[in-house]
Amino acid sequence: ATVHTSTRHDSAPKHVSGSAEYIDDMIEPAGTMHAYLALSTKPHAEIVSIDYAAVKASPGVIGVLTAEDIPGENDVSPSHKHDEPIFAIGKVHFWGQPLFAVVAETRDQARRAAHLAKVEYRDLEFVTSVRDAQAAGGKLVTEPLKLERGDVAAGMASASRRVKGSIEIGGQDHFYLEGQIAMAIPGEDEDVTVFASTQHPSEVQLMVAAVLAIRQHAVTVQIRRMGGGFGGKETQGNLFAAVAALAAKKWNRACKIRPDRDDDMTATGKRHDFVVDYDVGYDDSGKIHAVDAVYGARAGFSSDLSGPVTDRALFHADNAYWYPAVRVRSQPLYTNTVSNTAFRGFGGPQGMMAAERWIEDIAYDLGRDPLDIRKANFYGTTTDNVTPYHQTVGDNIIHRIVDELETSADYQARRKAVLAFNAENAILKKGIALTPVKFGISFTATWYNQAGALVHVYKDGSIHLSHGGTEMGQGLYIKVAQVVADAFGVGLDVVKIMATTTGKVPNTSATAASSGSDLNGMAAYDAARQIKERLTAHAAKLYECSEAEVVWVPGGIEAKGKFVGFAELAASGYMNRVQLSAAGFYQTPTIHWDRATGRGHPFYYFAYGASVTEVTIDTLTGEYTVDRVDVLHDVGRSLNPAIDIGQIEGGFVQGMGWLTTEELVWDAKGQLRTKAPSTYKIPLASDVPPIFNVKLAEWSVNAEPTIGRSKAVGEPPFMLAMSVVEALSMAVASVADYKIAPRLNTPVTPERVLMGCERLKREA
Ligand code: MTE
Ligand code: MOS
Repeated sequence: ATVHTSTRHDSAPKHVSGSAEYIDDMIEPAGTMHAYLALSTKPHAEIVSIDYAAVKASPGVIGVLTAEDIPGENDVSPSHKHDEPIFAIGKVHFWGQPLFAVVAETRDQARRAAHLAKVEYRDLEFVTSVRDAQAAGGKLVTEPLKLERGDVAAGMASASRRVKGSIEIGGQDHFYLEGQIAMAIPGEDEDVTVFASTQHPSEVQLMVAAVLAIRQHAVTVQIRRMGGGFGGKETQGNLFAAVAALAAKKWNRACKIRPDRDDDMTATGKRHDFVVDYDVGYDDSGKIHAVDAVYGARAGFSSDLSGPVTDRALFHADNAYWYPAVRVRSQPLYTNTVSNTAFRGFGGPQGMMAAERWIEDIAYDLGRDPLDIRKANFYGTTTDNVTPYHQTVGDNIIHRIVDELETSADYQARRKAVLAFNAENAILKKGIALTPVKFGISFTATWYNQAGALVHVYKDGSIHLSHGGTEMGQGLYIKVAQVVADAFGVGLDVVKIMATTTGKVPNTSATAASSGSDLNGMAAYDAARQIKERLTAHAAKLYECSEAEVVWVPGGIEAKGKFVGFAELAASGYMNRVQLSAAGFYQTPTIHWDRATGRGHPFYYFAYGASVTEVTIDTLTGEYTVDRVDVLHDVGRSLNPAIDIGQIEGGFVQGMGWLTTEELVWDAKGQLRTKAPSTYKIPLASDVPPIFNVKLAEWSVNAEPTIGRSKAVGEPPFMLAMSVVEALSMAVASVADYKIAPRLNTPVTPERVLMGCERLKREA
């Protein structure tokens, strides 16, 4: 069987040898033009005038694209607000907002010319942070959400203890290795083909059609692979694709656009920073009675995905914990910063960090190990298991995950050793923490939970596989290919993985919310099933037996005891006019969600995991090392353990970067200063923990009938990195004998560790 086995990524040899083709590697059609964006240098201002004379006179410039060149809508917003212009008109809302594009013979010429416009601005007041936005009146970019269950006032009244506080959680740049890029090739009549580095080809198709004022059938969007997306190419590729298509149709020549890294980081959305203000009632045993919290998020200047992202933060305000009474509210705040967007976890990580914060506050208040407080508040398996959105958690395995990890990582003995180490050492201090993860799987936009696939079997028995999912390094293509090879009983070499294109499978959803393999695996399986049924009927006729006597075996079928290879079967099927191609479809069952009432069953199931992290800090400098990490993670019955472990390791390290070193800093003028690898620090290979034990919960089987009973893996492991923060907190707390809650904001940079130590020493 090809499923449930460790098969390497289909492109692994090409990735490491440099022969995997990305859009910038494609052969450019003769006469390809290059576009470059000109960005605003004010965070909020009226545009008084733009003088393009010097731009147009610059060498190699073919022309300038402005809002006036757009035949259709000047908008690439994925939201119902239609509030994201391609080119600003009248006003700019953030430093780095695209004003116009220059199109030139070479990329270098376009890039140089883009800086030559004379732009006159009239400055307006601006806000860049959550707190400033709240102080300025709290203007929102989209409708907020409230989730409520139980009687919060009564819950607070019944609690013998209470903690109020706030946590600031930083944002994150995607730092995909391949930046944003698109290439458009004009065709006959209205037609245009766009190669776009996007997680959402169908949306790019829709946007390009709306921008050009043509119908969707004239636009084909194709993507073979991305060099990383991480949510940053769920909507942020729309603008680049639209600009390339606009230029291609205007001049009837191919056009490519690829921003430099610093322009990419300035002009494209990131993970939302949050400030969560909380009020939690609990008792002397550490059990939570009531939670009341407000989740302020830096949404940026437009709505983009801020509605669904802040919704998901609330959906994960519980992490794995039961709140007898709860009220949580979101604030997707307008700020004069780039419009923030999807990023691995989609708001969930921010919601969960806040939950872990009040668990920590309770633990330090009561002088207990935070793990005890976590356990005391876990959802039950049969009672105390209703979420703030009124979905019952029916598949809870967090107790077993945590118990097994506690044992396998030797948590209790190591915690004792850490406490002993700290008692003996004045300068270096250690910390250890175990944190849980529970993550809801499904798009909360219910209609997104559908997928299509197209499978062709050729006369020689070789197979073409297309589906709506996109490959960004996560291994979706190989997983779906495994499913199809397994269904037909053939080897993986028989299945050719095709690039994703809107021409093969229409109306697809973004490859996001970790549901790529759940959705597309099922759709492809459905296509294979149809072809198999036709071939089974054909074989029964040909070999004069009943359909039940036709058995699919590795390599082909057996009919009346006779083996027929798959290639021979396909050939005879063709000669007998059997349709050897099928479109498959899948829609996730059981889910529903009513946003207005805050009630429903938005998630098909939950993925679980836990991690233990041990760190050492230097209390004189704030520098630290992450010494050891142990992970136990639930992927149900893994479709491909090697790929899944890779996702867990990568997710953890990316989460660790978010929570420790990756810091976004806007200066007093409203400009993002951390926009290059010199100032924005993602984890290096040397930051990977020297001891990094990652295990799958091999006993776990998805309770729902997903493809192969597997579970989604893309995002949940990202949040395993929360244990790094909690371990750092413990090390910091040691300087005040664990009596004061350290309350570190994230990212917990060495500076924050040092300031934390200083503060606790002062307050002790
Ligand atoms: N892994 C790699 N290597 N590159 C990526 O861009 N994106 C993540 C995750 N893992 C990503 C990745 C995000 S944000 C999501 S939602 C899922 O992959 C999407 O793919 P899936 O649904 O097939 O898991
Ligand atoms: Mo992932 S943030 O859902 O693209």
